[in-house]
Amino acid sequence: MANVVLVTGGSGLIGKALQHIIETEPVGSRFGKLPNENWIFVGSSEADLRDPTATLKLYEKYKPTHVIHLAALVGGLFKNMKYKLTFLRDNMLMNDNILHASHTHQTTKLISCLSTCVFPDKVEYPLDENKIHLGPPHDSNFGYAHAKRMVDVQNHAYNEQFGCKFTSAIPTNIFGPHDNYDLEGAHVIPALVHRCYLAKKNGTPFIVAGTGKPLRQFIFSYDLAKLFVWMLREYDEIEPIILSVGEDEEVSIKEVADAIVKAVGFEGEYSFDTTRADGQFRKPATNKKLIDRIGGFQFTPFQEALDLSVKWFVENYDTARTGVKKD
Ligand SMILES: NC(=O)c1ccc[n+]([C@@H]2O[C@H](COP(=O)([O-])OP(=O)(O)OC[C@H]3O[C@@H](n4cnc5c(N)ncnc54)[C@H](OP(=O)(O)O)[C@@H]3O)[C@@H](O)[C@H]2O)c1
Repeated sequence: MANVVLVTGGSGLIGKALQHIIETEPVGSRFGKLPNENWIFVGSSEADLRDPTATLKLYEKYKPTHVIHLAALVGGLFKNMKYKLTFLRDNMLMNDNILHASHTHQTTKLISCLSTCVFPDKVEYPLDENKIHLGPPHDSNFGYAHAKRMVDVQNHAYNEQFGCKFTSAIPTNIFGPHDNYDLEGAHVIPALVHRCYLAKKNGTPFIVAGTGKPLRQFIFSYDLAKLFVWMLREYDEIEPIILSVGEDEEVSIKEVADAIVKAVGFEGEYSFDTTRADGQFRKPATNKKLIDRIGGFQFTPFQEALDLSVKWFVENYDTARTGVKKD
């Protein structure tokens, strides 16, 4: 009988990347589709996962043997601070419904998605998989972080009580095609890409908030998608695993902005607004466990991944999530 892999959040940044990898990697290869697999990608229009009945109906319709649960209410700092309860409740409802449906439908394996934002605010760096619950998260994303942490708690409880194989991934900052490029709510890379694109189009300066000095680890969505496929097939632990480039591959916001300027082909005035806050200088996470378990992985070079993402954004500006009304 064929395996049915259901991907929730299939219309989002990671969901679209997974679809791309499944459709382009050679069939039967380590990250490609297996001949006996049927992959199904669903967005919120197919089922509102906050609704338990809709979630169970989805499982009844597709009968998934494996689930990659990416759906979440995701947002930037401002949205997280303003809608704390919504972030807590919507994400808790979605996660609880998926875990419960996976249990009642005897899904062989479920992978949920956490984030490095769930780690404690006051913590010793680098972040590793054992530090998730060692203190409260930063107040700004209190709701989102607590909802995500509960997935790890539930994964262990489902395993101990029922033997379920439910696990979770912890990606660092992700970027790629199909990202959310909305200027108000976007993460740093898509927001800067959109601003640089507009600066080029309108002949205005490209101004980056802060000094450009903070360092971050970014993972290209296509690389992350391969790692999810690997987890599905080869990672058998309940414990979460950080999916990231190494600590030695941190890049500064200036390096990010330089790479964007190059990818967009922007030749106008470009500067840093040092009156704006920088945020934390570094939040390194170790990928030691990942490299130990997978035994080596070739990440896409940053500029190459960024060029691809910018190319996608420029070519798909009319349909991309930009927060700009286009009718
Ligand atoms: N982006 C990052 O940098 C980052 C970093 C770490 C972890 N993550 C995690 O990675 C996962 C995927 O993130 P992403 O960046 O791909 O998100 P995204 O692009 O914003 O996509 C979110 C997905 O969730 C779906 N969704 C939202 N509310 C839903 C609901 N009530 N019912 C059903 N589906 C719903 C959306 O469906 P529609 O679009 O059809 O409404 C969309 O497919 C999330 O769990 C997120 O927490 C993201």
